Amino acid sequence: MTQLHPHPTLALNDGRSIPQLGLGVWRTPADETAQAVKAALDAGYRHIDTAAIYGNEAGVGEGLRASGVPRGDVFITTKLWNAEQGLDTTLRVFDASMKLLGLEQLDLYLIHWPCPARGLYVDTWRAFVRLQAEGRVRSIGVSNFEPEHLDCLVQETGVKPVLNQIELHPRFQQHALRDYHAAHGIATQAWSPLGQGKLLADPSIVAIAKKHGKTPAQVIVRWHIEMGHVVIPKSVNAGRIAENADVFGFSLDADDMAAVARLDDSEGRIGPHPSTAEF
Ligand code: A2P
Repeated sequence: MTQLHPHPTLALNDGRSIPQLGLGVWRTPADETAQAVKAALDAGYRHIDTAAIYGNEAGVGEGLRASGVPRGDVFITTKLWNAEQGLDTTLRVFDASMKLLGLEQLDLYLIHWPCPARGLYVDTWRAFVRLQAEGRVRSIGVSNFEPEHLDCLVQETGVKPVLNQIELHPRFQQHALRDYHAAHGIATQAWSPLGQGKLLADPSIVAIAKKHGKTPAQVIVRWHIEMGHVVIPKSVNAGRIAENADVFGFSLDADDMAAVARLDDSEGRIGPHPSTAEF
């Protein structure tokens, strides 16, 4: 039986903290979400990342309640979908998400994409600031924002996001954006941290995994942990969910980190570019 290690947390710029490892549920079917969330909480996860557009917020709430883990011990994130951006719509759909989740208070609410051509992300952010002031959400942040969008939020409102959740994996390492985050006290959270599973057969990753007696997925999750990212690997399978969290009893050495650094590829982006994505 694998020993469960308490997961490390990272400090956020609003005085709160976030467990560094979470379960992601993008593409987790609604009817499989509760079991995946319960499996994660059973395996020691204390952080679940969903979004309104995933259609599985109800399953997240159901899995949380089924686990028996106290609500206060679990960090729950959801995201506002693009079509709902704007001051009034944000306040309305936040309530809808909370109803589906079955929660009184959310740990972290994110703007899912900036959609700059719509020109609504600053108004959306004003609604987020209000929700936080009202105590409905503890921390507020963004996803898929580029430096120009982050600068704009701060200039217009004076309120900095606690984190930015971005596409980030060994094949797309986002040096410039990570440097920006570090300079501004914004945490970096990685989506598709395993490259949507495509990186698991990479020969360098496989070699590092063999050397440590670990799996490729564990090597990549461990790399994110050592890089200081918040990381949310997705799986629907209880065994793989537990495997992805069994990363606190080994570490990567300088050769391993250098080998992973060499996998970076400026063409390695899988998802859309945030400056032009308008869906
Ligand atoms: P599954 O849900 O069937 O386990 P990412 O988090 O980068 O988006 O990657 C998710 C993908 O990687 C999913 O297809 C998931 O499949 C797969 N995956 C997650 N963990 C593991 C693992 N430990 N071993 C193999 N595949 C995994």
